[in-house]
Amino acid sequence: ELGEEQVARGAGGETHQTAEGTDRPTLTTQQGIPVADDQNTLRLGERGPALLEDFHFREKIFHFDHERIPERVVHARGFGVHGFFENYEPLTDLTRADLFQRAGARTPAFVRFSTVAGNKGSADLPRDVRGFAVKLYTQEGNWDLVGNNIPVFFIQDAIKFPDVIHAAKQEPDRGFPQAQTAHDNFWDFASLTPESTHMLMWIMSDRAIPRSFRFMEGFGVHTFRLVNAEGRSTYVKFHWKPKQGLQSVLWNEAVKINGADPDFHRRDLWDAITTGAYPEWELGLQLFDDDFADRFVFDVLDPTKLIPEEEVPIRRVGRLVLDRVVENFFAETEQVAFCTQNIVPGIDFTNDPLLQGRNFSYLDTQLKRLGGPNFTQLPVNAPKCPVAHFQQDGHMAMTNPRGRANYEPNSWPADIGGPREDPARGFSSYPEQGGGTKRRLRPESFADHYSQARQFWESQTPVEQAHIVSAFVFELSKCERPDIRARMVAGLRNVHDDLAAQVAAGVGLTDLPHRLPPAREPITDLPASTALSILHN
Ligand code: HEM
Repeated sequence: ELGEEQVARGAGGETHQTAEGTDRPTLTTQQGIPVADDQNTLRLGERGPALLEDFHFREKIFHFDHERIPERVVHARGFGVHGFFENYEPLTDLTRADLFQRAGARTPAFVRFSTVAGNKGSADLPRDVRGFAVKLYTQEGNWDLVGNNIPVFFIQDAIKFPDVIHAAKQEPDRGFPQAQTAHDNFWDFASLTPESTHMLMWIMSDRAIPRSFRFMEGFGVHTFRLVNAEGRSTYVKFHWKPKQGLQSVLWNEAVKINGADPDFHRRDLWDAITTGAYPEWELGLQLFDDDFADRFVFDVLDPTKLIPEEEVPIRRVGRLVLDRVVENFFAETEQVAFCTQNIVPGIDFTNDPLLQGRNFSYLDTQLKRLGGPNFTQLPVNAPKCPVAHFQQDGHMAMTNPRGRANYEPNSWPADIGGPREDPARGFSSYPEQGGGTKRRLRPESFADHYSQARQFWESQTPVEQAHIVSAFVFELSKCERPDIRARMVAGLRNVHDDLAAQVAAGVGLTDLPHRLPPAREPITDLPASTALSILHN
């Protein structure tokens, strides 16, 4: 028992022995051994060598040496905050997912916003996609909706992901540029990859330089399924609609902000939340069935296509409120692990080949980044519902199964036999029909790479179109190789000749290059979609 005068409280309220003559806790090693001198290593004689037996020095340096973990291979720079999702009305007709069953039900959430290409220490305002990753700690396990602020993606098949990311990140020989699209490798890849054209239009638009994380939309990108208690499936695209509205900055402003305050976006979010201006988004669902999927002019499994809101209106079903900053950046923002394979009963995947590749990739990379298979035990990753399984051991295991039984089936009585399967409540995959010939060919239904790029262009106001042109001109003019610029413009001719001609003039091409022959002729009469323009929103 410590006397009142010998007790100090740590930051977490825990009790410490006070250092003599102070009101502060005694400094200790990791083993709890009180430290007498933290300023000098143990040495032999006045000017003699340092001694190996100085366990305090060795432990202190050893721990410092291991402070860093690998940064994320993509989305390395990000900022996470806590909040909750509130469901507006029961969605029992659509899904059995527990979080959607009751009006007003609140589900705790952790959200990490990020840039994609830049390293952990890069600036907040490059021209880039922003990650919008949401972890929902539901009563039936964690559901991670790992989205972006752009509704489509560069590639149609996950096997191309290492290529698009290698091309976008710093060039391997020189290690620069960081966090910018303006370089030969990126435009070389983009101009050789027609399926990236629609995404490029978004990247060159105002969407890629948001004013703040608070003024961005979020998109689950892929088509998912909702499955109700009767096993009926409805296709769904997930959207986050910011109640603050949509805002972007100009490139000129972005450059100045990056110089003056590279932490501009994280500071903005921190300031908003700590002053009580909690940002909010509404969860929007675009719901459709097989009939619509068959009728829709593009393949709903193709992640380079969106479904215009005019064709399938968005139903707003709840709100996400971000109301609490992290207590420890490393423990929470850095160690959080979002994973597309984390879905709950009532939600399911589709055969989108990008989504299926992602389901492998996240867990695989996190095993390395977070040092073993037990990162789900870290508080930010741990479910907030009961967890019971027979997995055990591995680095840093803290919640091994209790008792004698660590396998099943087993015949031990309830108190030591552990958990049992639950066919009624457990996750069961939607029984989609499969079959066909094994092959590596892209489906014909994925072949149109330009029509929606054109639709996006035509949906933009003249001011926004001018921004897109100047972004293409600025970025392509950083390309040293004229043939890459010309090839890119040749591809843009499939989007719109106005765009191609203005970009060609801007980058000093005297002749408009021949149109790149498309795999499939674009549809030229798709109606514009007002929801795609920031200025109309
Ligand atoms: C990380 C979104 C495609 C692999 C992330 C993060 C987001 C994201 C938001 C950051 C998560 C965080 O904040 O911790 C997306 C979207 C995609 C996409 C919306 C396409 C629609 C892919 C693909 C792959 C992939 C195709 C690989 C096949 C990764 C990896 C990480 C990551 C390895 C790092 C995860 C970690 O270290 O924790 N992605 N991504 N992504 N993504 Fe994706």
